[in-house]
Amino acid sequence: ATRSDLAGRRVVVSAGGTREAIDPVRFLGNHSSGRQGYALARTAAARGADVTLVAANVSLPDPAGVRLVRVESAVELAEAMETERAGADAVVMSAAVADFRPVTSAASKIKKSGDAPAPIELVENPDILAGLVASRAREHTEQTIVGFAAETDDVIANGRAKLARKGCDLLVVNQVGGGRAFGTEDNQATVLGSDGSAVDIPTGPKEDLADRVWDLVVERLPG
Ligand code: C5P
Repeated sequence: ATRSDLAGRRVVVSAGGTREAIDPVRFLGNHSSGRQGYALARTAAARGADVTLVAANVSLPDPAGVRLVRVESAVELAEAMETERAGADAVVMSAAVADFRPVTSAASKIKKSGDAPAPIELVENPDILAGLVASRAREHTEQTIVGFAAETDDVIANGRAKLARKGCDLLVVNQVGGGRAFGTEDNQATVLGSDGSAVDIPTGPKEDLADRVWDLVVERLPG
């Protein structure tokens, strides 16, 4: 049965992984495929939402009925999310954001010189999720904010600490390592709530996990 429990709602989803330029042809990146974020966008659209999908370096087909905004770096993603979040009922940060970026991107391709290679100096990227929580607090608006966290060990304890640190409403925690989650078709997670709740979502298609996340978001939306 098709639900329409997100009809009249506007949601923003980030997907993929940021690329931090080293020079015009090289970057620091990660293995995120964007599949989980795209599944979140598709399922929200199927449930009637007005969906904006902010995609960082995703090579999947454009989902139908979704507004797509493309970005590359964490700074671009931060700007796009801050713009798109305004007036949204829910924001889901499923993109994998690089923690650091090179201080400068070389104007032309870095060449081998025979000397020792120059080190790449890094600076920290903004925490976009924490920034979204701060923007909501400034506005005193109601908005449900969802983060994702990939943990390799002490998944629940680390997830709880991260949820508290970021200040979001829901944190979807995956266990990673050993080929799980990144780039695979299936996903498994525990969704932690700022109200102390924990909902286990068994291994299954990323679409099923996406629908379970939206169920939890719908419960939290004001009438
Ligand atoms: O701190 P960690 O990277 O594990 O947190 C993961 C969550 O925070 C994800 O929802 C990710 O999209 C978000 N994040 C962010 N900005 C960063 C790093 C992570 O929004 N710089």
